[in-house]
Amino acid sequence: MSHADDHHGTRRDFLYYATAGAGVVTAGAATWPLINQMNPSADVQALSSIRVDISEIEPGTQLTVKFLGKPVFIRRRTEAEIEESRSVPMEDLPDTFSRNPNIAADSDASDMNRAMDEAGEWLVQIGVCTHLGCVPLNEAGDYTADGVGGWFCPCHGSHYDTAGRIRKGPAPENLHIPVAAFVDETTIQLG
Ligand code: FES
Repeated sequence: MSHADDHHGTRRDFLYYATAGAGVVTAGAATWPLINQMNPSADVQALSSIRVDISEIEPGTQLTVKFLGKPVFIRRRTEAEIEESRSVPMEDLPDTFSRNPNIAADSDASDMNRAMDEAGEWLVQIGVCTHLGCVPLNEAGDYTADGVGGWFCPCHGSHYDTAGRIRKGPAPENLHIPVAAFVDETTIQLG
């Protein structure tokens, strides 16, 4: 069992996850059968894009969906998380690249280049530590906004800030961002 399965965060997070598995995540216009969320079938893993309903994600919570066999964290950040991230000078970042395939490859790791929207409310990341691939824990580590946001990988002690940027520990890169775009105000397409 992976760390993702061990850690469901709050009960609310888990309910979102279960809901996503039951059909809120859709592939194009097609309907699809119930997904076994702990053991997605080869068909599900092979889908090259999915759509996720984000309408019920409250600020300060995170929905985790599996996409292409990996957990993807979809977080709706609070003002405090956004402010914390935007106050960090670039020289404090071990990895200064955005790791965001939706913009230029050499773009810097500023908060604006990591978030989905201009206001910075939505942050979508692949939930795989860039050290050796464990799944980091949310609301943990030394770089939260007073306990909110941030990620910590307990495998070897990597700390990521409220924008998912590596700040301390052996991980060499910021959490990667997947190909993602808004379809409408309440739907994000991955892939
Ligand atoms: S896998 Fe995350 S710190 Fe080693």
